[in-house]
Order: sequence, then C-alpha cells, then structure tokens
Amino acid sequence: MRRPLMAANWKMYKTPAQAAGFFEKFLPLVEHSAHADIVVCPAFLGVAAAVSAVSGSRVEVGGQNVHWLAEGAFTGEVSAPMMAAAGCRWVLIGHSERRQHFGETDDAVRRKTLAALEAGLRPIVCVGETLGDREGGRTEAILEKMFSGGLAPLTADPFARVTIAYEPVWAIGTGRTATPEIAAQAHRFLRNMARVAHGEASSSALRILYGGSVNPKNIRDLMAQPEIDGALVGGASLDPISFASIVNF
Ligand code: PGA
Repeated sequence: MRRPLMAANWKMYKTPAQAAGFFEKFLPLVEHSAHADIVVCPAFLGVAAAVSAVSGSRVEVGGQNVHWLAEGAFTGEVSAPMMAAAGCRWVLIGHSERRQHFGETDDAVRRKTLAALEAGLRPIVCVGETLGDREGGRTEAILEKMFSGGLAPLTADPFARVTIAYEPVWAIGTGRTATPEIAAQAHRFLRNMARVAHGEASSSALRILYGGSVNPKNIRDLMAQPEIDGALVGGASLDPISFASIVNF
C-alpha cells in the first residue's frame, strides 16, 4: 500500500507572517491525520517561518524550485544544500509554470532532481500535457518525453526517492479538474514507464500525485482511484480549512 501524500504549492503567495498565520489554524486540523504525509511548499522567503511553525508536528516543508549546482555565481537562485540546511525536506521540480514561463527543460529537471536527491531532499517531479497536446492526441507522447528526459536516466536507487505529480496544464488554476478516470489513465501510463525503466518493485512503490484544481469537493473521488496516491494542491491549499479538508478527505 502506498502512503498518501498531500502537498501544498503556495506559488508566489503569502508573506512569512501570512505563512505563520496559516499554520496556526492548519496544524490543529491535521493533528490526528496520520494516514498521509503532509508537505507545504511556501515561497523561499516563507520557508523559515514555515519550518519554525511546523516544528514538532507531522507536517514537512518543501521548496518550489532548486538550482542543480550546490553553489556558484547564479544570481537569484537557491541550491539544494541551502534548502536542506534551512529545514526543507522536499522540493517541487519541473512545475509547468517553471517550464512555461522560465524555460525549464527536461534535462534541467533531471539535473535538479539529482541535485535534490544528493542533498537529501525528496523531489516531487511535475509532468503534464497542455490542452493543445491533449486535443491533438499527444498526451502520452508528451508524458513519455518528460519521463524519458527527466526521470528515466536516473538509476534505481535515486528513482526510489522520487515522487511524480501528474498535472495536466489545462487543469491548473482553471477550475477544470481532470476526471478521476482521465487522471488514473495518465497515472497508469506513467507507472508503466517507471516499470519499464526501473523495474516492478520501484514502479509499484512509486507515488504519483494528481494536481490541477484539486479542492475539498473533488478530492474524495480522485483518491478513490487506486492509481492516485495523493494530490499537489495550488489555490485550494492557501486556506487552512480548505487544505485541511483535502488532507482529511
Ligand atoms: P491549482 O494548482 O490547484 O491551483 O490548480 C496546482 C498546481 O499548480 O500545482
């Protein structure tokens, strides 16, 4: 049985004070939620406030992006060892907004994933097709390209510490969720690629999250699919009551 993982992606929202205010309300609501791993990914400047707020709780903190080198002359970037030292345990990699607006490639995803693993962070690697890809019948080809470029080159041991988030771009922030069936089909496709690349044991242990307009109303149907191991939640994770009810689906 794969343990559910519920992750919040706050994107470019919340100051440190707002992050602290979120946890004051959120932590009591998930105090008994031992059924799932819970991760919150604030903007970098909110990490310190989040790490201090979650101390002693079951909630862990992650970054939203990482550079692939440990240090260097890269203005504006943050490295994996820095994030680990700041108390992050997880990091999102290759989110579609990074790919779309910041030109992130599959090879960058691969390098970032390796850097994260080397620093002891657990990467959540995001993949997903655009509406044009889906309507053009290219969903599987896109997922295959992202998987082959970003994750297939890893060897078995690092791959075992990776989580994948399937996030169809057309469902992100649009209020248009993939049906549980559409999501489950993509998850099966991804798991099968993981099986071919890394073997049966790693692929059946691999957690694949769904992301894209997840909310307290649709989470139960999504989680009813045995292929869906959790959620990566944007908009609906900004409110503590809403994210807690997703965690406690
Ligand atoms: P959304 O975002 O839940 O607001 O659609 C999900 C994501 O981008 O990870």
